[in-house]
Amino acid sequence: MTDPTPQASAQELEIQFINVSKAFNGRSVLSDLNLAIPKRQSIVILGRSGSGKSVMLKHITGALHPDRGQVLVKGRKPDRALMESIGVLFQQGALFDSMKVWENITFSLRDVEGWNARQAREFAIYLLEQVDLAADVADKYPRDLSGGMAKRVALARAVSTRPEILLCDEPTTGLDPVSGLVIDTLIRRLVDQFNMTCLTITHDLASAQRIADRLVLLADGRIAWDGAPADFATTDNSAVVAYRRAVSQTHV
Ligand SMILES: Nc1ncnc2c1ncn2[C@@H]1O[C@H](COP(=O)(O)OP(=O)(O)OP(=O)(O)O)[C@@H](O)[C@H]1O
Ligand SMILES: [Mg+2]
Repeated sequence: MTDPTPQASAQELEIQFINVSKAFNGRSVLSDLNLAIPKRQSIVILGRSGSGKSVMLKHITGALHPDRGQVLVKGRKPDRALMESIGVLFQQGALFDSMKVWENITFSLRDVEGWNARQAREFAIYLLEQVDLAADVADKYPRDLSGGMAKRVALARAVSTRPEILLCDEPTTGLDPVSGLVIDTLIRRLVDQFNMTCLTITHDLASAQRIADRLVLLADGRIAWDGAPADFATTDNSAVVAYRRAVSQTHV
């Protein structure tokens, strides 16, 4: 038999959903879902609003727990220690309004490593460069930033701890197409540069094509399609056909 044992595969797999079911108030959201994400893959999850994409992501961070089945990160159940190797770009940017940009970016670092303010600010400026923002942005407040700049700052914060895993929830929603393209390009560049495993959730097909090595479609609580980004537009898989039709009608 060529199938590897679960123990052997768990070492190469960064994130695993194994027969995961989750319901809220009796309403099933995830239903016997299986997905295995190898180290250093950039995977994009597509799915209609309410299909459970953010719920999947919250199982990886340990904010939610499965009713049945298992979610494993690096072969373990998510816990606080594991969170140090995960960076998250949240659906709602979520910068702290009362903190300057450099303080936002290095928030976790100063907590974790006890850096002084000068060192932290210098490192924030380095991270701003990685997301193509100038050093003077460091001393601005979130209210002084455009939506696209705020997303870039949030991305710089998400990678500030040099995480091995990057989770992005709707990174381009609410941005104009050009700012969205910039964010996609930055995510892809940072993932390659820092050798991260990346899971991105999006509604945006063009964005998915730019970020993904692999695309999956979440529908009816499961992975309904799993394949190469280039094949998504032409597959005759019924769930993908229904999704493509819905997208073309609603422009989501
Ligand atoms: N903590 C919770 N308590 C109760 N219901 C929840 C909770 N979290 C999510 N849900 C429900 O689970 C379903 C899936 O939610 P989820 O946020 O994952 O959707 P989504 O695919 O991310 O949608 P969107 O694209 O709009 O962000 C929704 O019906 C939502 O109301
Ligand atoms: Mg969501």
